[in-house]
Amino acid sequence: MRLFTAGPVACFPWVLEEMSRQMFSHRSPEYQDIHMETIELLKWFLNTDGHVILTPSSGSGLMEASIRNGVSVGGTVLVNVIGAFGERYSEVVETNGRKALKLVFKLGEPIDIEILDKYLSQHPEVEAVAVTHNETSTGVINDLEAIYNTIKKYDVMLFVDAVSSMGAVDIDLRRIKADFIFSSSQKAFGVPPGLAFAAFSDRFLEKAGEVRDRGWYFDIPLYVKYLDKARSTPSTPPIPQVLGLRATLMRIREMGKDRWFRMYRERAERIRSGVKDLGLRLVAREGYESPTITAVYTPKGVKGDDIYYGLRERGIEVAKGYGPLKNETFRIGHMGHITDEDIDVLFNELHDLINMLVKKV
Ligand SMILES: Cc1ncc(COP(=O)(O)O)c(C=O)c1O
Repeated sequence: MRLFTAGPVACFPWVLEEMSRQMFSHRSPEYQDIHMETIELLKWFLNTDGHVILTPSSGSGLMEASIRNGVSVGGTVLVNVIGAFGERYSEVVETNGRKALKLVFKLGEPIDIEILDKYLSQHPEVEAVAVTHNETSTGVINDLEAIYNTIKKYDVMLFVDAVSSMGAVDIDLRRIKADFIFSSSQKAFGVPPGLAFAAFSDRFLEKAGEVRDRGWYFDIPLYVKYLDKARSTPSTPPIPQVLGLRATLMRIREMGKDRWFRMYRERAERIRSGVKDLGLRLVAREGYESPTITAVYTPKGVKGDDIYYGLRERGIEVAKGYGPLKNETFRIGHMGHITDEDIDVLFNELHDLINMLVKKV
């Protein structure tokens, strides 16, 4: 099957090779060196000398950790919602005993920064602002630097869900001083699921030290203590995924970040122009198209599922439409190991399938 999924995505070959190694203890010096090296590579990748941790979980675990460590019990978080994952962030806030103030934008649109600015000026109770960097359900990427530059005048922390952006676009934490930014292995780094990672600020860590009932599994100060003392994690980490992530980061260092990001940019441009050549319309507003996933409206009378299952029969797996757009869209993921030939095959088959489906309507 050729994978154009939203994640897990097809793994890079160097990842699969690394992951076939025999296991060893996460308390052994071999693992400790690998753990610390992976963290150093992530710091280089994100251009930060702040705190970075690896956790045995998917990205949602760290979404929850941002709230349980970074927000007072009963405190308020302003959650920007441009699609399904913003909605999830607000659920995580509410189910952890905090209050979510939701700022909801139309599907396909990015965050309107002026509206965000005005809203913050009227809500001094807000402790943190949560942003989905790249909304995987609509294929929209927010302008994170502009958001940071707008909200930094307020006494609020910035939490960023970078699950489907980190690894594909430059996130320079010296320019964008996010207080907590997290991602997971199964997207743009082309590694299997099971590993998540976060970078966070000193003020986040200080706040975490004051917040009660943080729990144990995602207790961020405990993670920092283990990193210092044991050069590892409090519980067992997914060692193969850590090896895989390290392999991708080493590959990026060899290639240079610019070439790596160009690879992702050019791939996304090819996908978008292929979609437009078929006469189909993107969900994302122009100028905010995601570098990792393209959500596409189906032709009139054709359901998202017809495209999804039709392509599956032809050996291609795309992603179904998500949430309220489920029936009228499908999504083409462009993360992980995808070749030029895969893209040619995708568009040949899509062309053929759409002609067939449209004739039936
Ligand atoms: C933007 C975004 N946030 C959060 C998540 C949840 O991440 P995970 O599945 O790693 O928990 C996803 C998963 O698709 C996502 O795309």
